[in-house]
Amino acid sequence: MSTFRSFAKLNLHLEVAGRRADGYHELRTLFSTIDLADELEIELTAGGVTLETGRADLPAGRENLVVRAAEAFLAAVGGGVGASIRLLKRIPVGGGLGGGSANAATTLRGLALMTGSGPSEAELERIARSLGADVPFFLHGGLALGLGRGDEIRPLPDLHDPLELWLALPSYSVSTAEAFRAFPAERARAEPSRRVAALLAGGSIESAEGPIGENDLEAAVFGLRPELGALYTQLVRSRARVVRMSGSGSTLFAVFEDPDVARAAGIGLPPGTAWFPVRTLGRAEWHRASGYGAAERGG
Ligand code: C5P
Repeated sequence: MSTFRSFAKLNLHLEVAGRRADGYHELRTLFSTIDLADELEIELTAGGVTLETGRADLPAGRENLVVRAAEAFLAAVGGGVGASIRLLKRIPVGGGLGGGSANAATTLRGLALMTGSGPSEAELERIARSLGADVPFFLHGGLALGLGRGDEIRPLPDLHDPLELWLALPSYSVSTAEAFRAFPAERARAEPSRRVAALLAGGSIESAEGPIGENDLEAAVFGLRPELGALYTQLVRSRARVVRMSGSGSTLFAVFEDPDVARAAGIGLPPGTAWFPVRTLGRAEWHRASGYGAAERGG
């Protein structure tokens, strides 16, 4: 049996380039893994896929991306092997932190390492894309640009200094499909922002106006969920240097100069709102902490 950790992400920047013929939206987004993780225990078996989540609110059947990822992987290796998986969930569900997508990618990477064979890297990417737009990022971790549906990944070098961020997690979630539906077509950006253009041209993130940019979905999501807009305003007024929504919400993240001011900002948030610090994880640290190094060594 091998244990892997499946880290959450934030979208430090997200711009919408327009709606595509397939109904998805063309994005240019900056992903980073953060130090908040689920745990997956994977055991190889003779056949079939089973998942145990230990929680009634977490599906253990094919509605769970872990099961679909394992089935797609096992189909690609052509049978003769199965997987029994236990998921210990810590990443809040439905918050825009990508927990389910991370779990799917961890399942693919974990099974590839454990079986020591199987699909090529390109095939893993293809399976990841078929599972969801956020899944391919989690095959790479660290800092990366996501283009296309967010599933064409350009890995970027780590930040010089990890970002210390505070997360505000409301008690409600936002549907990604609804958030994109509410995005007004006329707000689409034909041209990449200067930040993204600089990164596409090979510039460093530090020279590209810094890592935290905008999120084009904020106005649409705050329209759907005025209480999230109110939370955003409350955090701005509590002397945060920057406040942003991650992905399609409902998680907001904030940067403060002073940790005491950050802690104080947590007092008086709406009931049910979680408030805690995280930091960004670079690629090598993400890889090691995920347990991929140990599995490569046969541990
Ligand atoms: O790929 P995923 O299942 O996470 O996406 C959920 C929904 O969000 C899609 O069905 C689509 O409506 C919307 N979406 C989009 N553009 C993207 C990603 C997601 O419109 N790039």
